[in-house]
Amino acid sequence: MNFELTEVQREIQKMCRDLAARELIPNARRWDETHEWPSAAVKKLAELSLLGVAVPEALGGAGLDNLSYALAVEEVSRGCASTGVIMSVNNSLYCDPIAKYGTDEQKREFLVPFARGERLGCFGLTEPEAGSDAAAQKTTAVKKGDQYVINGSKNWITCGPRAAAMVLFAMTDKAAGHKGISAFLVPTDSPGFNRAPPDRKMGISAALSCSMYFEDLKVPVSRRLGAEGDGFKVAMSTLDGGRIGIAAQAVGIARASLEEALAYSAERRTFGKPIRDHQAIQFMLADMATEIDAARLLLWKAALLKDQGARHSVESSMAKLYASEMASRVTNKGLQIHGGMGYSKELDAERHVRDARITEIYEGTSEIQRIVISNTLMKD
Ligand code: CAA
Repeated sequence: MNFELTEVQREIQKMCRDLAARELIPNARRWDETHEWPSAAVKKLAELSLLGVAVPEALGGAGLDNLSYALAVEEVSRGCASTGVIMSVNNSLYCDPIAKYGTDEQKREFLVPFARGERLGCFGLTEPEAGSDAAAQKTTAVKKGDQYVINGSKNWITCGPRAAAMVLFAMTDKAAGHKGISAFLVPTDSPGFNRAPPDRKMGISAALSCSMYFEDLKVPVSRRLGAEGDGFKVAMSTLDGGRIGIAAQAVGIARASLEEALAYSAERRTFGKPIRDHQAIQFMLADMATEIDAARLLLWKAALLKDQGARHSVESSMAKLYASEMASRVTNKGLQIHGGMGYSKELDAERHVRDARITEIYEGTSEIQRIVISNTLMKD
C-alpha cells in the first residue's frame, strides 16, 4: 500500500493549509462568537475552486479526486469547522448528486454555477419527524400536469439561509414507503419556498442553518433529479459521499486541538517544568495523535474507494463514526491540557469541543453509522 500523496494532492493540501493560516484561523473565533456567516472565507473557497473539488472541470469544478477533496476539507476545517462544513455541503451533498444523477440541462443550470462557487446549494432531507428515519418523509410532491406541487417542511438545513438552490426530497407516493420518495432541484427564491430565521446552535455557529416551509411550491417535472421513486437511493448514495466530508471535518477539528495543545504544553509550566515534560500530558498527546491518524486512514480508504467507483457505504460510515467520536475524545483532551484556560473563551480549545460534537450527529448519528455497518456484517 502506498501512502505517498501525488504532487497535485500535496499542492491542494498546502494551498488549503495556507488558506487556513491566513484567512480562517485569525477569524474563526469571531465568526463563532457573532454567529456571522463567513462570507470572506466562502469567497476564497470559490476563488480557489474548492466548492466543486471533484466535479469535472467541464462542469465548473476542479476535476480532482476524492482523496484531494478529503485533504482539502481536513485543512479547511482545521482552520474553521464552520467553513469546513459549508464546503462539504456544497461539494458532497449538493454538487455530487447532480453530477451523478442530473440531466445535461439540470447540470447546466443547477451544477455549473454552484461548482464554480458563484452560488451555494443545500440538501433538504431532514424533517421534524424524519431525521434518523429518513424514509419517514412527510413532505409531499403531487404531480399535476407537467409540474409537482410540494407541501411540507425541512429543518436543520446547513447553508439553508444562504443557499440559492436545494436538492429537495419529497414523497411522490406515500403508500410506497422509501420507494415513494423522489428528489427535486429547487431554486430557493421560488414562490412558496419560505425560510425561518437561522437556528441557534452549540457549535459550528457560523455555518448557518434553518428550517424551510413549502406551501404549494411548484416544481416542473424537468427538475426532478433521477426517476420518480428513486429519491431514497439518491439520498443514501449522496450521504455515502457526505460522510467522507464530515469525517474529514472531524479529523481537521481534532488536529487543531492537538496542535494547540502541543504548543500550550510547551509554554505552560507546573512543578518547575513545562507541562509537556509530565508523562500524564505526554500520554494524552500520544493518544490524540494516534487516534487522529487512525481516523485519517479510515477516511482515506473511503475516499480511495469512492475514486475507484466502488460502493463505499460501510467504509464511509466507519470513517465518519470513528472520526467523529475520536474528535470528541481528542478535543476534550485538548481542553483538559489547557486546564482552566481550556474552559475560557479567550482560547479556541472550548470551541473545538463544541464544533466536534455535531460531527457525531449530522449526516447520520453515530447510532445510524453503527446500523449501516452492522447490517452489512450480518448480510455476509
Ligand atoms: N446507496 C444506495 N442505495 C442504498 C444505500 C446506499 N448507501 N443505502 C440503502 N440503500 C437502498 C437499499 O439497497 C434499499 O433498496 P431496495 O429497497 O431496493 O432493496 C433501500 O435503500 C432501503 O434500504 P434500508 O432498508 O437499509 O433503509 P432503512 O429505511 O432501513 O434506512 C438508514 C437506512 C441507514 C437508517 C437511513 O435511513 C439513514 O441513513 N438514516 C440517516 C439519515 C441521515 O444521515 N440524515 C442526515 C441528513 S443530511 C444532513 O445532516 C446535512 C447537513 O445539514 C450537514
